[in-house]
Amino acid sequence: MKKILAICGSTRADSANLKLLQLLAQWAGSSYEFTIYDGLASLPHFNPDLDVEPAPEAVTALRQRITDADGFIICTPEYVFSLPGSLKNALEWMVSTVIFDGKPTGLITASSSGEKGHEQLLLVMRTLSAGFTEETQLLIKSVKAKVAPDGQIKDATTEEQLRRFWAAMGSLIDDNLVAE
Ligand SMILES: Cc1cc2nc3c(=O)[nH]c(=O)nc-3n(C[C@H](O)[C@H](O)[C@H](O)COP(=O)(O)O)c2cc1C
Repeated sequence: MKKILAICGSTRADSANLKLLQLLAQWAGSSYEFTIYDGLASLPHFNPDLDVEPAPEAVTALRQRITDADGFIICTPEYVFSLPGSLKNALEWMVSTVIFDGKPTGLITASSSGEKGHEQLLLVMRTLSAGFTEETQLLIKSVKAKVAPDGQIKDATTEEQLRRFWAAMGSLIDDNLVAE
């Protein structure tokens, strides 16, 4: 079964971003093995001196999981007009690798506003050569008003946008497999 690895940029237990990823996991059903990475908060701080062989164990493990995944999704809030530090830290560990090269990738920023953070997310992931398209990126504003405590989406437009994102993500993964 094809694998999708997702990273939530929020480490908050009641995160709206996490709820969105859990909804995608439901939609994945038995079509994909959908895993949400839970090690973001315990990754070591990036330091180029440590980015040698062997890299720290948790970093090597995350790199392997990304490599093994057929698709990769980030769903994150914006913090002070940028990416949350823990997410940026994880991505910094990937700069010396080529693991995102052409990797079918979906990028969601779900935040109060999120515009600057989303721009930066796209820039960072473009720099890492991730394979995303206009259809596999999505900015969800006022997220707390749109996601119910039980994780269901309260806003019809947002649900439609997320469903379109999910369909595009599936196509991207399938096209990539065809290309291989
Ligand atoms: C430290 C901090 C900084 C924030 N900065 C921004 C910001 O610059 N722009 C924005 O849209 N929201 C900002 N927020 C609000 C988040 O978008 C909001 O809390 C969001 O729901 C967090 O996502 P989560 O529910 O997945 O944790 C900030 C929140 C925190 C805790």
